[in-house]
Amino acid sequence: MPVITDIEDLRRLYRRRVPKMFYDYCESGSWSEQTFRENSADFRRIHLRQRVAVRLSGRSTRTTMAGQEVAMPVALAPVGMTGMQAADGEIKAARAAEAFGVPYTLSTMSICSIEDVAEHTTAPFWFQLYVMRDQDFVRRLIGRARDAGCSALVLTLDLQILGQRHKDIKNGLSAPPKPTLRNIIDLSTRWRWGLGMLGTRRRQFRNIVGHVKGVEDPASLMKWTAEQFDPDLDWKKVEGIRDMWDGRFILKGINDAEDAKMAARLGADAIIVSNHGGRQLDGALSSIRALPAILDAVGDRLEVFLDSGIRSGQDVLKAVAMGAKGTLIGRAYIYGLGALGETGVTKALEIIRNELDLSMAFCGHRDINEVGREILLIPGGFADGRA
Ligand code: GLV
Repeated sequence: MPVITDIEDLRRLYRRRVPKMFYDYCESGSWSEQTFRENSADFRRIHLRQRVAVRLSGRSTRTTMAGQEVAMPVALAPVGMTGMQAADGEIKAARAAEAFGVPYTLSTMSICSIEDVAEHTTAPFWFQLYVMRDQDFVRRLIGRARDAGCSALVLTLDLQILGQRHKDIKNGLSAPPKPTLRNIIDLSTRWRWGLGMLGTRRRQFRNIVGHVKGVEDPASLMKWTAEQFDPDLDWKKVEGIRDMWDGRFILKGINDAEDAKMAARLGADAIIVSNHGGRQLDGALSSIRALPAILDAVGDRLEVFLDSGIRSGQDVLKAVAMGAKGTLIGRAYIYGLGALGETGVTKALEIIRNELDLSMAFCGHRDINEVGREILLIPGGFADGRA
């Protein structure tokens, strides 16, 4: 077992242990992957201001996100097919998040269902909703989230149609994988993953199978999205969904100040500045570069979170210092899950908290809530919302 000291170590181990098609699904962006790369690269363009001779004992990364106390300003983002990265992956990730004290967001396109996760956790989790053409199904899904005690509904706005990720097409991505010769050869070298999968009955999209009339096998995410997701989701429909939900309402996938204003007008509690990890519109601005203009537009009216590109506690610090109230990580915890299961998710969270805590201290702060833009050295033109 290699010694794990950062998220990149987890990624390397994950790559060895999980079938190629699921590694590729996680580790790709759409088309040229420009936005996927820039999401992370743009964080590195921001430098931190080192300060010294400041009292550093009694530090805290605790804060709140969407009215909930969190151990650090990080939530686990919804990730489709998490239960294909490790057996019962959603349950494992939710349990790790609960023990650590950060929110977990369950994707509509999860393998474990809302009920599966609720049964194995006690803290309320967040539920991410994709809007389908079948309105009845959407209504029932929201009702199931309410019955499970979910504290926030996270409505995704940037994936009514699916961005093209070349590798998924080439790999014939499906859940579970089809028994082709290529898949069998690949799976034969991932015995840990295979044993785990043999030990669970959760191997299909369980929020869907058995809940939508006439749908027995939505194995292909690409086909299912094209057939079932509502391509006509507009602000009026968003308003309709808001009216069906009593808890916190979070809009995910905002990358433009005009859309952020619409979200504020609608009374959303929070938005997530996101380009879906570079998986949808390739060529879109990285989230960290899109953030300042959005904060200027709505920062005093709702909570602004950010995802896409975060791979370290320093990235979290930069987003928060820029003005985000919190962040979400996707790939960073999936690497941990695929590498080491529930322990790996905990490891990813610990790595990020440690990096966040130390970097905050090196910048002369003891409380994450006190950190502001003055700790950042931002290159000219970076934050003006122009490419
Ligand atoms: C789904 O959310 C995806 O990005 O594949």
